[in-house]
This record gives sequence, structure tokens and C-alpha cells, in this order.
Amino acid sequence: MSLTATPEPAELVAWYAEMGITEALDETPHDHFAQAQDRVASPQSVGDAPRPRPTLPPRPGQAPAVVARPNAAAATAPDDATVSAKVLAAEAATLDDLKQALAKFEGCALKATAKNLVFADGNPAGRVMFVGEAPGADEDRIGLPFVGRSGQLLDRMLAAIGLSRKDDVYIANLLPWRPPGNRTPTPQEVSICLPFIQRQIQLADPDILICIGGPSAQGLLGLSGILASRGKWLEYDTGTRRIRAMATLHPAYLLRQPLQKRLAWRDMRALKTALEAAGTPEPAATAGVE
Ligand code: URA
Repeated sequence: MSLTATPEPAELVAWYAEMGITEALDETPHDHFAQAQDRVASPQSVGDAPRPRPTLPPRPGQAPAVVARPNAAAATAPDDATVSAKVLAAEAATLDDLKQALAKFEGCALKATAKNLVFADGNPAGRVMFVGEAPGADEDRIGLPFVGRSGQLLDRMLAAIGLSRKDDVYIANLLPWRPPGNRTPTPQEVSICLPFIQRQIQLADPDILICIGGPSAQGLLGLSGILASRGKWLEYDTGTRRIRAMATLHPAYLLRQPLQKRLAWRDMRALKTALEAAGTPEPAATAGVE
């Protein structure tokens, strides 16, 4: 498309689609990023949260900590929204409370462009919790995680080791709102949403955490390079206890690279073995045990 000539409407729409702008939300454009900044800057706007304080001591036994190295962005860039998120997440006593807190939270600009909050699916009492990256278009429309093509593959992977979404696993995402055009979440968006997913893991209290894909593995386990770091048992501190955790490949990646399914299958078999081990599996002392 020429930058000097006025574009034809069809050209403009094609260009928008290429830029990831696939949904029309309103007649006139809004700068949601500026609006979100205004909301975060205003103390009244953060739901019912008390005015954010710069340094907030964690409640004993409540603040989740990652034993595997934490996400650098989360560790170094807490702003007002992150502090508000920590306060709201810590105050949630149940998963329902947490969902309501997220529904009221105005600190993440992704909320403005998403159709739905995508909180969780499956059985919160399941022994395994899977955490993906962020909702895609299907998940955003329906309000549940992993319901599109990736989710159908995930269901088949679970079925291959005798697990069902309904009974055995609890599924959520690092971010509960869809990034426009399915772009990768920014470090700031991850940092803002991290306290909520950490609290969700703590409240669900699974025996095993599986991080699906690079952003989840990095955000929750501090891992970088998913191909090198997948399949290794690590320890994750929920804030209440230490559980086993592993990163695996994202089904969306497996759909693009079907040969890599053999690696994901290895991870699923390791998960099945861990679940079959008598009682609650002991966390591995260090990373690197395949
Ligand atoms: N990809 C994700 O990471 N999460 C979803 O819910 C759907 C696709």
C-alpha cells in the first residue's frame, strides 16, 4: 500500500488485518493505552482496591514465590498497576473472589480490547494445573481457555495419558485477556497480571504445574528458551508449599511443527509417571531432571 495515496477501503482493511487489527469495537478509534494509564493513575479507578502503597509487605504464607528464577520483568518493574494487582490478588480468599477481583481490575490495558475475561476451565480440584500464554480469538469469544484448535490438541494430549479436562486438570493462562491480534504479551502486561495467576495457582493448590509455551515458562518459572528448558522437573513455590513444575511446548507450536509432537509426548509421559508415583510426588531438589 502506498503511503502517499489515499488507500482503497479494501486495502486499508487488509493492512489492518496484517497489523493484527481484526475486530471492530466501535465507530471511532480509542487510545486504550492512554485511557488505561489514566485509570491506573487515579486511585478511585482501581476497583475497590485501597490506594496502592509503594512497598507492601506480603501477608505471611500468602505471597507466592517462585523458587525457579522469577521473571526478570516482574522482579524489576512493579508500577502502580502491579502493586494494585498484588493487593487484589492477595485479598482474594477463593478462586471465585479472584475471578471477581480480575473482573474489576482496570490496571491492564488488554482488558479494554478483550471481549471476555478468560479465567479458567476444568476441575479446580484436579491434581495438575496447566497454564498457557493468553486467550486467542476463540477463547476471547467464549470466555474459556484453550477451546480453539490448540485447545483441541491439548485435550487429545491429555486423553493420550488418560486425563480429561473436566475431571483431572485445571487450566488457566498467564494473562486472562486476549492481546489484540494474538500478539505476544509485553513484559509489562505479564508483570501486571502475574500476581493474579500466582494467586490462582496458590488457591487451586495443584500437585503439579505444567507451563505451556515460552511466555508461561518464563513468567512463572523464569525459564528462557522453551526448546531447551521443556521437559525438566523444577520446583515451584506456591507460597503455601513446593510443588513439581515443568514447561512443555505449546499446542499452537505443535500444530505448526508436527514433528515436535514427539517432544511433547515425552513431557506427557513424564507427567503421567509423576502422577502415578505413590502419593503426592516429591518436588525435584533442583532443575535439570528429565
Ligand atoms: N493459547 C493459549 O496460550 N491459551 C489459550 O487459552 C488459547 C490458546
